[in-house]
Amino acid sequence: MFSSVFSATVSGVDGFRVTVETDVSGGLPGLEVVGMPATSVKEAKHRVRAAVRNSGFEIPSRRVTVNLAPAGLHKDGTQLDLGMAISLLVASGQLPGTSLINKYGFLGELALDGSIRPVPGVLAMVLALYESGHEGAVIPVDNQAEAAFIKGFDIRVASNLTQLARFVRGEQSLPGAEAPACHGNALSGSHAFEQIRGQLAAKRALEVAAAGEHNILLAGPPGAGKSMLAKALPEIMPDLTPEESVTVAKIHSVAGLLPKGSGLLTRRPFRAPHHTVTPAAMVGGGTVPKPGEITLAHRGVLFLDELPEFSAQVINVLRQPLEDGFVTITRSGGTYRFPCRILLAAAMNPCQCGYWGSDSQACLCTPYQRRQYVSKVNGPLLDRIDLFMAVQRVGIEDLARAGGGEALQAVKARVQEARKLQKKRLEPVGLATNSQMGPRELSALLSIAASGRKLLLDAYSRMKLSARAYYRVIKVAASIADLDQSPRIEEEHVAEALSYRQRILE
Ligand SMILES: Nc1ncnc2c1ncn2[C@@H]1O[C@H](COP(=O)(O)OP(=O)(O)OP(=O)(O)O)[C@@H](O)[C@H]1O
Ligand SMILES: [Mg+2]
Ligand SMILES: [Zn+2]
Repeated sequence: MFSSVFSATVSGVDGFRVTVETDVSGGLPGLEVVGMPATSVKEAKHRVRAAVRNSGFEIPSRRVTVNLAPAGLHKDGTQLDLGMAISLLVASGQLPGTSLINKYGFLGELALDGSIRPVPGVLAMVLALYESGHEGAVIPVDNQAEAAFIKGFDIRVASNLTQLARFVRGEQSLPGAEAPACHGNALSGSHAFEQIRGQLAAKRALEVAAAGEHNILLAGPPGAGKSMLAKALPEIMPDLTPEESVTVAKIHSVAGLLPKGSGLLTRRPFRAPHHTVTPAAMVGGGTVPKPGEITLAHRGVLFLDELPEFSAQVINVLRQPLEDGFVTITRSGGTYRFPCRILLAAAMNPCQCGYWGSDSQACLCTPYQRRQYVSKVNGPLLDRIDLFMAVQRVGIEDLARAGGGEALQAVKARVQEARKLQKKRLEPVGLATNSQMGPRELSALLSIAASGRKLLLDAYSRMKLSARAYYRVIKVAASIADLDQSPRIEEEHVAEALSYRQRILE
């Protein structure tokens, strides 16, 4: 007897439908799995065998062959257990092969006692089943939150094989996936922005960075609040659009990092890998590649704290992805592409001792030591920074004063309005934010007041800006004008943009 049942697997950050075909025929008893299964899938037969027996069914004492199609797709993960069990039970005549079987895809890992365990990547796989024309999916109870917000798709949850078998026989219905009560979002911390006292200039720089999606570097002495400021960045960025939200949730689901009980994500992700991070952990890797930190930060902020401490190798592997907005990883099983459109925020001390340029304490480093220190970060990465911000320790008067500064909502609203202006201007050329503009868009789409132009040219020679830095100043000035709802870049916008270009490092 033969049966086919549907399940799915993940490749990169996308889900793909898998057909589980089972044939039960004469020959020596045994269970064989074919069709490019990874080790985790080959081990499925042991789990399936025990789970089937312990749920009151039998393993036929005949030859059982399970084929996973399409053959060319590398299959990984334990979520195929459930499809294999159902397929086996149908092929051996222990469950009816009703139309219900083809209506749903089945995802879940089986424990030896027949209970169904959660698996990573459910969201991506459910989307794949939806796109393949199925009407619904059966998923583990513990994965329900990440798939519940998908409307128009019949998602059922099961907690064990016995319960699922009754559903297939039509004896019992399965509960639908429930969205969690609070539409929370635990990918990034919260209330960071409103805890910052003083630091008006630094907060303004964050606002400009958020408005135009500009990479930013914060430099300052220990305890100045650099880390604290960077953490506040996702809060003032616009909420994720529903489309972005699905992609971000998919990525975190695949990495098994979607917080339990989180619904649709709205806040942008914030990733702060430690400086001992390996290149593979940064951009993704493994035999079956999994997303790295830069992909986990997709549509959000990647924060490199203590920038000079990162290895040259890690800095190097970041270059291309930062430029392209995606990472490509090639393996024998195929080529994987992970998205990584991020805002890069970095923080560092200005020198070894930490106090160069500080107004509270004298720097003890020699000029040579300072240059050595900064040379570690010079070059590829600093070239991609739009905003340089020197951060000083906050004065005691500011620290003692509760409140102060603008409310988070006011800043965020201004950023959101600035993005709207950019969208209107840049959508026709396929871009979204000012930071993405090249020299061509700069001259075609921006208008700069004559006085602003003059200031720019003066600065170009006075500050010895490189051509690249010159364009960056204009892009930042555009974001400042957008925050001002100004259709033209005025002199004051240029002046502020130039202030983020001051030499804050030796
Ligand atoms: N402006 C501020 N408002 C409120 N708290 C502050 C401010 N600045 C610093 N702090 C407090 O000081 C602590 C140290 O700040 P933070 O860790 O961000 O400094 P840092 O510049 O990253 O220092 P390091 O160079 O040591 O990493 C924070 O946890 C915060 O509690
Ligand atoms: Mg810090
Ligand atoms: Zn120093």
